[in-house]
Amino acid sequence: MTYSLWHIVSLGILAIAAVLVLYIRRDAFAEFRPATDKCTYQWDSGYVCPSSKETDTYKILPYSKHDDATKKDAIDHLSAFWTEWTYDHNFIEANWGKDDMFYIMVSKDAVSKDAVSKDGRFLGTVAIDRKNFYPFISQMYVVPSERRKGLATELLRFGEDVTMSMGFDTAKLWCEKHLVPWYEKRGYQAEDTVHQNGKTLFIMQKGPFQRAMAA
Ligand SMILES: CC(C)(COP(=O)(O)OP(=O)(O)OC[C@H]1O[C@@H](n2cnc3c(N)ncnc32)[C@H](O)[C@@H]1OP(=O)(O)O)[C@@H](O)C(=O)NCCC(=O)NCCS
Repeated sequence: MTYSLWHIVSLGILAIAAVLVLYIRRDAFAEFRPATDKCTYQWDSGYVCPSSKETDTYKILPYSKHDDATKKDAIDHLSAFWTEWTYDHNFIEANWGKDDMFYIMVSKDAVSKDAVSKDGRFLGTVAIDRKNFYPFISQMYVVPSERRKGLATELLRFGEDVTMSMGFDTAKLWCEKHLVPWYEKRGYQAEDTVHQNGKTLFIMQKGPFQRAMAA
């Protein structure tokens, strides 16, 4: 069988096109890597990320790692805000307890032996709800006295890191209409609405998160 020049040129063009497509879409073939440099790669389980975050001013730890006073603070605050739900330890355990997916942020200031809570002041919460096909970031809450300091933005970012470390490249959440611009500013887009307890809630989505090429 002989190949004409035309065959060779066509094959060459196809090969160049394939290389171009692979190059342009290289992110899609890149190995998944979480955005945080705190995650380490383990050959048998992929990227493993710490389920906590600590800065000079705050700590975010799973519910189970906090003392009783802090757990009670979180439950009291969430119950007072989301009155349609009955928050207690069982509610948190049933929804997010199994995999430590409910997180509490506390301050690192004023932690002394005499402090009521050895954890510091209760600042806020975030949960990653895995009961859905995609994890939903939920229970975003910051105590009123500490709002507008960027803490919710930090909690949201932490929730996204946890979502990514679970191998998902998309985060979703529900919010009320007045918070849509807040989430849009942080990279989310409204994709649908649902009606619950007489309210219209917006389903917001962010992703796919940027994938980094494997080192
Ligand atoms: C919605 C909520 C979580 C936001 O918390 P927050 O900690 O005030 O949020 P942030 O500080 O990250 O962002 C709030 C604003 O303060 C601004 N901000 C951030 N740092 C700031 C600072 N140091 N000084 C002043 N403003 C600041 C941000 O730019 C942001 O402004 P924007 O809305 O124009 O983007 C909080 O109001 C809350 O708990 N509400 C009740 C529960 C609730 O509705 N949860 C949402 C469920 S979907």
